[in-house]
Amino acid sequence: MMDIKGKFITLEGGEGVGKTTNVPFIKNYLQNLNIPVVVTREPGGTKLAEKIRDLLLQSNDESLTSHAEILLMFAARAQHLNHVIKPALAEGHWVLCDRFTDATYAYQGGGRGMALETIGWLENFVQGDLRPDLTLLLDVPVEIGMTRAKNRGGDLDRFESEQLHFFNKVRQVYLQQAQQYPDRIKIIKADQPLDDVQEAIIGALKLLLL
Ligand code: TMP
Repeated sequence: MMDIKGKFITLEGGEGVGKTTNVPFIKNYLQNLNIPVVVTREPGGTKLAEKIRDLLLQSNDESLTSHAEILLMFAARAQHLNHVIKPALAEGHWVLCDRFTDATYAYQGGGRGMALETIGWLENFVQGDLRPDLTLLLDVPVEIGMTRAKNRGGDLDRFESEQLHFFNKVRQVYLQQAQQYPDRIKIIKADQPLDDVQEAIIGALKLLLL
């Protein structure tokens, strides 16, 4: 029987790694191959999940505990998976998601120090056996990413306001995840000229097109 299921691609990385530039690039590349693509993001991607995103990104008088933070991430993910991601994949669309559960390992696990086993448990609980087919990890040294993010201007959100050591731990866990799942997670060196970054991205996408 023909497999009509779409492919699930996620884009990951710390702050200022160039996701905003590369999401439309990947979308165009796939669409030019006549692949139907749904572009979405986490936290968010549905009306309710976007409301949860606001709760997560805005700073409040009442501090958000790390337990509440991770549960809100997975609550948003449950909505997003069931209302957007799974239906799209079932229809044969490809889904390109700006961040997914590797971000939870990196930010809540690395940054906040939550046990990776706990995250693994929540991942299985919410996702069952659904995992991305391909994860592009845009990687730049933390100082470069933070400078880029600050130069974007505007107010910094609750995560962007974190310090260097937080983002060093985020990057460390991302790289650890890539080492653990080398078939799924492809590291894209993103502190090189954009043409070279995008050539590397195409190289990784081609693995899905074989
Ligand atoms: P964005 O800056 O890519 O839009 O993502 C919003 C922030 O949410 C970003 O700082 C990373 C953070 N985040 C987590 O901490 N855990 C997660 O699981 C996800 C998806 C995002």
